This record gives sequence, structure tokens and C-alpha cells, in this order.
Amino acid sequence: MPLHLGVNIDHIATLRQARYRTMLGAHNVEPSILQAAQEVEAAGAHSITIHLRGDRRHIVDDDVFLLRREIRTLLNLEMGNTAEILEIALRVRPDFVCMVPENREEVTTEGGLNVAGQKEALKASVSALETNGTRVSMFIDPDLEQVQASKEVGASMIELHTGTFANEQGDQRQVEALRLREAAELAHRLGLQVNAGHGLTTKNLPDLFIVPHLAELNIGHSIVARSVFVGLRRAVQEMLAAMKSYPQV
Ligand code: PXP
Repeated sequence: MPLHLGVNIDHIATLRQARYRTMLGAHNVEPSILQAAQEVEAAGAHSITIHLRGDRRHIVDDDVFLLRREIRTLLNLEMGNTAEILEIALRVRPDFVCMVPENREEVTTEGGLNVAGQKEALKASVSALETNGTRVSMFIDPDLEQVQASKEVGASMIELHTGTFANEQGDQRQVEALRLREAAELAHRLGLQVNAGHGLTTKNLPDLFIVPHLAELNIGHSIVARSVFVGLRRAVQEMLAAMKSYPQV
């Protein structure tokens, strides 16, 4: 299977909210989140990723329902494990849910989820979602205890947090890539699908490709940033082209 790309379009909504937060139903609201998703799909991406945060700072509830209805690829909903968002996820039935930690002050998701520290709460949500037809992933640091705990709570996938890898350079980045590799190997042995994301760019991807068993990358910021200059479709195509050098097994 080729490495799949999920494009996180939260920042298209960030741009919309910067102007139209208080008048989302108005006739002149732009940019359209649906049009963005359709451009991403036309470029050949495999899924659309959105994060419905408790504070609704970018994606809002109507976006989630609209995208669920209209997109042709797969919908990946990132969410904190709260009763409010779980109830929405059960109604929306996204193809995938990725459980992430959420903290009001953060600019973006900062660290991985502490799955080992909240197994019982996660088990209940994973079970409800998986029974409802949604495959669940845990967004975790490359930490073997967290990989093991993800298996124990019944998740079918993990998403390895590549933020530290992306922020480091040289030897330190290499060290992080090796940690990611070890975590991916354990996850694969446990039968978990291995995804990765956060901070990935066309420039740092080659250093990531020593990590085996990767099925899907979730990438947002660098694609949306690049789209300012070349358009969304081309920015996604450039990322897909960079992903082609991932070794196929
Ligand atoms: N995966 C998860 C779980 C995330 O929370 C984010 C950021 O919203 C991403 C991937 C995408 O990260 P970036 O925007 O840095 O590409």
C-alpha cells in the first residue's frame, strides 16, 4: 500500500474565523471549508482531517456535519476525550477518530496523549466509537509504554507525534527518528496501524523515512502555508510527490 496522506484543513477554518467568527451563516463568508476539502481531494489526498476543539477556535460543529455529508474520501476527526465531543463523534460517524490531548492555552496540540494514565476513560470511548463503525487512533509520543497502552485500550491505530522530530536538526533529529522507529516496530508487532503527524514538511520527510510500517501521514500547517503561494491543490500534490520516496514493503 502506498503511504496515505490525510490533510488537516483546520487552518483554512482559522483564516475564516479571523474575519467571520460571529457571522458564519452570512452570504460572504470565506474561505469555504468544503471547497478546501474538495481541492485537497482533487489533488489526490486520501483523507480530510479536522480537529473539533472544545473552544471551537477553527472548525465548528457545522463544518464537521457538512464535510461528513459531502466529501468523497475519508473523514478523520481529531478530538479530546470529552463527553461533549464524543457525543458529536458518535452522531457524525467519521471513518477515523484520532484522540488527542487538549489544553486551552496551547497554540496547537503540544504533546502526545497520556494513554497509560487514563486507560479506563479511553477504553469506554474507544469501544463506543469502534462499535459505531469508527476506527480509533491514539496520538502518542514515541514511547513504548504509550504504544502498549494504546493496544490495551482497544485502539486499532496509533499516530506517532513527530513534533520533536520536526523541531530538531542533525544528530538530535536522528535520535528522534530512531525513537519513532522503535515505537513503530512495537506497534506493528502488536497489530496496530501506524500513522504519524505534526510538523511534517516536504523538507523533513526524507529523515522520517527510516521509520517502518507507516500507513498514513497527517499534515496540515506546512501544506496550508505553502498554498498561500502555489494554491492548495499544488501544495498537496507537492507533498504527495515527496511521499513517493517512502520505501514500499
Ligand atoms: N496530527 C495531529 C494529531 C494533530 O493534532 C495535528 C495538528 O493539528 C497534526 C497531525 C498536523 O500537524 P501540522 O499542522 O503541524 O502538520
